[in-house]
Amino acid sequence: MKVLICASAAEVVARAAKTVVAKVRAKPDAVLGLATGATFEPVYEELVTAQRAGVISFAKATTFNLDEYVGLPTAHAQSYRSVMRRCLFDHVDIDPARAHLPDGMASDPDAEADRYDALIAAAGGIDLQLLGIGVNGHIGFNEPSSSLGSRTRTKDLAPPTIAANSRYFAPDENMPRQSITMGIATIMEAREVLLVATGAAKAAALRAAIEGPVSAFCPASALQFHPRATALCDEEAASGLALMDYYRGIDHGE
Ligand code: PGA
Repeated sequence: MKVLICASAAEVVARAAKTVVAKVRAKPDAVLGLATGATFEPVYEELVTAQRAGVISFAKATTFNLDEYVGLPTAHAQSYRSVMRRCLFDHVDIDPARAHLPDGMASDPDAEADRYDALIAAAGGIDLQLLGIGVNGHIGFNEPSSSLGSRTRTKDLAPPTIAANSRYFAPDENMPRQSITMGIATIMEAREVLLVATGAAKAAALRAAIEGPVSAFCPASALQFHPRATALCDEEAASGLALMDYYRGIDHGE
């Protein structure tokens, strides 16, 4: 895995946005895998700015988000469809028909998961997949113990994920406990993967992902098998890495 350590979270955001911009400029009809979460909100802000400035266009692009809550109405402010609309889709020239998320309100979530995998395949697969990492090492909602061979499916949220995401819901609200998420094998099929982590809370998970054994206990560690995976992180998230000096010494170019 390529490990790229930036001096600050702001620099991480800029590099992540630059990677997406470069991809879409090189391939206007790129298929992008998108992630929700606090890490990516400022990245999407930069993409909106880039599109408004005419640097890129999403008019021919297709996107697939990693996951969606099951049973949360699409119109709810915290559905990932709503989050993506607020952060990106409503502000750029993407064709809404090509901005995909799993339908968490589908009457048959298992069939919806199969449909989603088939839709990704029909679009030609994902060119660049953006990934955050959970404090427990999850990618998408693939919680620890997820099969490394998993496809898009329903998955129960783990307690650390519920704890981390409950801040987005009112205390008297029942936050969803289940998701439809791309599987680990689905994610691994992306031609290129960019894992982005900022802040000290991610240090242990990032170390396990990059330097730990490949294990379902840390789903992000599966990326060690990916031929084109980059971990982009700030100093705080990198603080647990044993080989920090080695990663710093590598010239990753621009
Ligand atoms: P975050 O979420 O960007 O809000 O930290 C990352 C994740 O849980 O995958």
